[in-house]
Amino acid sequence: MWQAHTIIHNGVAMPFNDARIHPLALGVAFGVAVFEGLRAYRHPVTGGFSVFRLDEHLARLQQGMKVMRFDNPPTSETLRAAVLEVIRLNAPDEDAYLRVQVQIETMGMMATTGPVGWIAAALPRERSKKFASGLAACVSSWTRIADNAMPPRVKASANYHASRLATLQAKADGYDSALLLTARGKVSEAAAACLFLVRDGVLVTPGRTSDILESVTRDTVIILARELGIPVEEREVDRTELYVADEVFLCGTGQELVAVTSVDRLPVGDGKPGGMTQRLQAAYEAVVRGTTDAHPEWRAIVS
Ligand SMILES: Cc1ncc(COP(=O)(O)O)c(C=O)c1O
Repeated sequence: MWQAHTIIHNGVAMPFNDARIHPLALGVAFGVAVFEGLRAYRHPVTGGFSVFRLDEHLARLQQGMKVMRFDNPPTSETLRAAVLEVIRLNAPDEDAYLRVQVQIETMGMMATTGPVGWIAAALPRERSKKFASGLAACVSSWTRIADNAMPPRVKASANYHASRLATLQAKADGYDSALLLTARGKVSEAAAACLFLVRDGVLVTPGRTSDILESVTRDTVIILARELGIPVEEREVDRTELYVADEVFLCGTGQELVAVTSVDRLPVGDGKPGGMTQRLQAAYEAVVRGTTDAHPEWRAIVS
């Protein structure tokens, strides 16, 4: 597998291991950072790379920086150029995972708003080992963070503390993945992925006010499903709907689309990845990799 050797830090390309900020900088001390995780896919015939929905990820990052009240945040044009450049510089030979992160790089008071710095990195990342077989999930005893406390719509580094606790608990209890409920007891999402279920032929996903991250992959799945003629509902989801659903799957840039085959040890459907999940997995794979002509606007070509 290829190795990342170059990172771009504040516009300067440097050896990957040379990027530095002080341990007491606010980005570390209080986790004052927002980021995006993206993927660059390699086309199976041309060998060329494209970044999936780069502009949508950067738009979400701008929203996050606004809520964080960052001073002089980097522009999307600057970050877009850096993402494409960091792929060219690292010359991966297979799909790459990309991270753009903006953090406060100096020490200061808790409410210090700048100066901010940023990185763009390309890393190897294998597909989930459970991609084909599916995940055993549990409903976590940890509650999903709430909009009026740690807004989940902002992809802030500090938000992942709660997801990490839920994942550690799930693994300690023998599950692959944790599903989190909102403070109101409704289904929100997984630790680092959004969630869909299938009931009576309808694809259902918790709405945008269910304390989810407004996921780019979730949006992609909704659009692809509608194009395939599958009815989609965005609405509140009860915990027990997970137990009676015909199919459940998670989606996110990192996880892509992966079936959940049991929840709290109850099999989902017949306990195998379901037909609609597999259909959407195939449609997603084609559109991210560019083996279909559909949605060229979603693929930023690395030239
Ligand atoms: C908490 C959380 N929810 C959902 C997702 C999925 O978001 P996206 O599809 O934009 O990658 C992620 C990202 O990986 C995430 O960290």
